Amino acid sequence: MIIAIDGPAAAGKGTLSRLIAEHYGFHHLDTGLTYRAAAKALIDAGLPLNDEDVAQKVAGEVELADLDRTVLSKHEIGEAASKIAVMPAVRRALVEAQRSFSKRSPGTVLDGRDIGTVVCPDAPVKFYVTASTEVRARRRYDEIVAGGAPAEYDAIFADVKKRDERDMGRDDSPLKPADDAHLLDTSEMSIEAAFRAARDIIDAALKKE
Ligand code: CDP
Repeated sequence: MIIAIDGPAAAGKGTLSRLIAEHYGFHHLDTGLTYRAAAKALIDAGLPLNDEDVAQKVAGEVELADLDRTVLSKHEIGEAASKIAVMPAVRRALVEAQRSFSKRSPGTVLDGRDIGTVVCPDAPVKFYVTASTEVRARRRYDEIVAGGAPAEYDAIFADVKKRDERDMGRDDSPLKPADDAHLLDTSEMSIEAAFRAARDIIDAALKKE
C-alpha cells in the first residue's frame, strides 16, 4: 500500500502523514527532506546552487537513512531546496531514491509536491492537502514563535506566496493535485478531523486490496 500526500508549504501534510504512518504501521518519507539534504550538502561544501551537474551529483549521494528535520529545518535550507528542485537532473536523482523507498513493506506514506503525479502515479490512495495562504502563513508564524524565535507575519506571508509560485510554476513536476487525489482543505479543519477523513478513505482502499 502506498499513500501519496501532496500540497503546498505549511498545509499540514507533514503532521497528517506522520499520523497516518503511525496508525497503519507504515514507513514514512518526507520527500521535502531529500531536497533539503541536497541543498544543505551544497551549502556546506561552498558549492553553487545554480550548477545543475554539481547539484545532480550531490543529490545522488543523499542517504535516506540520514534525513533529520531538526538539522534541515532552517529557512535558508528550505529556500535553497526549492531553488534546486526546479532542476530536472536533481529531481531524477531524488525521485529514484523515493520510488525505491515507496516499495517497502508493509506500506509507505510519502509526502511532498509531486508524489501522486510523478513519483508514485499508481498509488492507490492520494491526498492533496491545502489551506488558504493566510492560514498557512499564520501556522508558520505560530510555529516559529513557539520555537522562541522572532517572526514577522507579513514577511512570512510573502515567503509562503513566493514558495507557492516557484513550486507551482516550474516546468518539471509542478505542484498540482493528481486527477484522482482526494482534496483535504485544512483551512477550517483541525488536523484530527483531517486525519479522520483520511482514515475513512484509506480503510475503504485497504478493503479493496
Ligand atoms: O516544509 P516546507 O513546506 O518548507 O517544504 P519541504 O516539504 O521541506 O520542501 C522544500 C522544497 O523542496 C519545496 O519548496 C519544493 O520546492 C521542494 N520539493 C519538491 O520539489 N518536491 C517534493 N516532492 C518535495 C519538496
